[in-house]
Amino acid sequence: MSRIDEEIARRRTFAIISHPDAGKTTLTEKLLLFGGAIHVAGAVKSNKIRKTATSDWMDIEKQRGISVATSVMGFDYEGYKINILDTPGHQDFAEDTYRTLTAVDSVIIVVDVAKGVEQQTRRLMEVCRMRNTPVIIFVNKLDREGRDPFDILDELESELKIAVRPLSWPISMGQSFKGVYNIFQNSLDLFTPDKQKVTERIEISGADDPQIDDYVGEKNASKLREDLELIEGVYPEFEVDDYLSGQLAPVFFGSALNTFGVKELLDCFIKIAPAPKPILAEEREVRPSEDAFSGFVFKIHANMDPNHRSCIAFVKICSGTFIRNANYLHVRSGKYLRFSAPTAFMAQKKSIVDEAFPGDIVGIPDTGNFKIGDTLTEGEVIHFKGLPSFSPEMFKYIENSDPMKAKQLNKGIDQLMDEGVAQLFVNQFNGRKIIGTVGQLQFEVIQYRLLHEYNAQCRWEPISLYKACWIESDDNDALDAFKRRKHQFMALDREGRDVFLADSGYVLQMAQNDFPKIRFHFTSEF
Ligand code: G4P
Repeated sequence: MSRIDEEIARRRTFAIISHPDAGKTTLTEKLLLFGGAIHVAGAVKSNKIRKTATSDWMDIEKQRGISVATSVMGFDYEGYKINILDTPGHQDFAEDTYRTLTAVDSVIIVVDVAKGVEQQTRRLMEVCRMRNTPVIIFVNKLDREGRDPFDILDELESELKIAVRPLSWPISMGQSFKGVYNIFQNSLDLFTPDKQKVTERIEISGADDPQIDDYVGEKNASKLREDLELIEGVYPEFEVDDYLSGQLAPVFFGSALNTFGVKELLDCFIKIAPAPKPILAEEREVRPSEDAFSGFVFKIHANMDPNHRSCIAFVKICSGTFIRNANYLHVRSGKYLRFSAPTAFMAQKKSIVDEAFPGDIVGIPDTGNFKIGDTLTEGEVIHFKGLPSFSPEMFKYIENSDPMKAKQLNKGIDQLMDEGVAQLFVNQFNGRKIIGTVGQLQFEVIQYRLLHEYNAQCRWEPISLYKACWIESDDNDALDAFKRRKHQFMALDREGRDVFLADSGYVLQMAQNDFPKIRFHFTSEF
C-alpha cells in the first residue's frame, strides 16, 4: 500500500451530535481521554458554549471564539487517526452543524436514556439521512433511571427512521447500573466508575462465563442472558454494509460521565466506521487516493477582535496530500494562493503542519478570500457539491440606520453571509434585503458585528414569512407565469436563484396546488 493509501485507511473523521444536554461534550472528553489527548476530564468542557438562559449571545460569541481550539480534535488511537469535528450545542447555530456534517464521513448520535429522541436529534438525523451518512447511536446516562432499553430501541427506530441493532447492552440501570456487555466482541468490560479518568479494565469472554455472576450478581447475570437471547431473536445479525450505506444504526449503551460503555463504542467505531470516501463534485467523482490535492471550505471562524479582521477557514481535504507553501488554485476566484501557516488540530493544540491527508481538516488564516463551499485544487476546476442551505426559520428586513455608511453596511452583510452566519434574500419587487436565520441570536450577532467590525448600523424590521423555498421547473413558461403571479413574493438568493417567500403554510400549499409544474424545495440543493 502506498503511503497515502495507508494514511487514508487509518483516518476516521466524524462528528458527535445530540440534542443539548444529552452528553455530547462529556462523551467527546472521554474519547479524548482514551486517545491520551487529554489527561483529566474537564478540559473540553471549559470551552463549551453554555446554554443557560442567563448567558447572553455576547458570552456565546466569546466562547465561540475560544472554541476554535475544539473545532477539530485530532488524536491517535490504536494506530488510527481520529478527527472529531465539534458542532455548536446551541440550536440557534444549527446551520453550522449542518455544514459540519458535510465534512464528516460518519456520525455518532448521543441520546439521553430518560428523554429518548428529542427535537434537535430528529432534525440532525434528517440531514444524515439526506446524505446516507453512517450513524452510530450512543444511549447515555444509564447511571440514572431511564426508560427500558428495548423501548428506547423501538423509539430510535420509529423516530429516527432507521433500522437499529444493539452492539452493547446495559447491565441494570440507575443506582444499580453495573456496566455494559459488549455484544460486538462478546465480552464484558467492567470499569470502576470514575468521572475523571479511565480506570483499569477487567476482561471476561462470552455471555456464559460464570465469572459474570461474580461481578454483577446472579440476578443481573441471568437478566442479561435473557436480554441477549431476546436481542438475538428479534434483531438480525449486524451487517457492516448496512451500517455503511446508512440503512442501519448500531446502538451502544453507557454512561459517558462514568466512562461506562465508551471504550466499547470507540473500539467498535474504529473498526467499522468508514475511512474517507469518494466525494461527488459537480464535474466528477473525486477519490481520496488521487495524487492531486483537492479540498473545500466548510466553515469559517471569525476573529472576534475588531482590530484584526481575520478568520480561520476550515478546509476538509478530499484527495491527495495538502502541502504547506504549495500553490493551490482557489477555484472561485481563479487565483493561485499559497498558505504558509496552515494549522492542524492535535490533542487540543493548534500547530502548523507541513502536510495533511484526506479526512484531515486544516485551518487556514484568511483575510476575506474565502467563502463557505469554496474549492481548492492543484489546478483542476472542480466544485464540490453537498453544502445545501436550509430554508431559515426566522426572517427580518435589514435596513440601514446610517445613510452615510451604506457602503460599509453592504460590505459587512456580504462578508458575514460569506462566512455563513445567515442567509440573504433580496426581494425582487421592492429591492429590500431580507436576512433569514435559524435563531434569534443570529440577528443580535449580525447587528453587533456590523457595528464593531464594519462601523455600520443596521436595524431590523419585521416581516411575516413562513418559509423561503427555492423553486424550479422544466417548463419555462410555467416558471414565468408563477413569477408573474407571485411577483411581490419573489426574491433572489446570493447565487441568483429564484426563491419564493411564502407568508403562510396555507399560501404555500395553495401555490403547490395551483402550479403543479413548479417544484418547491426547502434546501438550496436539489
Ligand atoms: P451536551 O454537550 O450534549 O450539551 O451535554 P454535556 O456533555 O454538557 O452534558 C450535559 C449534562 O449531563 C452535564 O451536567 C453532564 O455532566 C451530564 N452527563 C453527561 N453524561 C452523563 C452520564 O452518563 N450520567 C449522568 N448522570 N450525567 C451525565 P451539567 O450539570 O449540565 O454539567 P456539569 O455542571 O455537571 O458539568
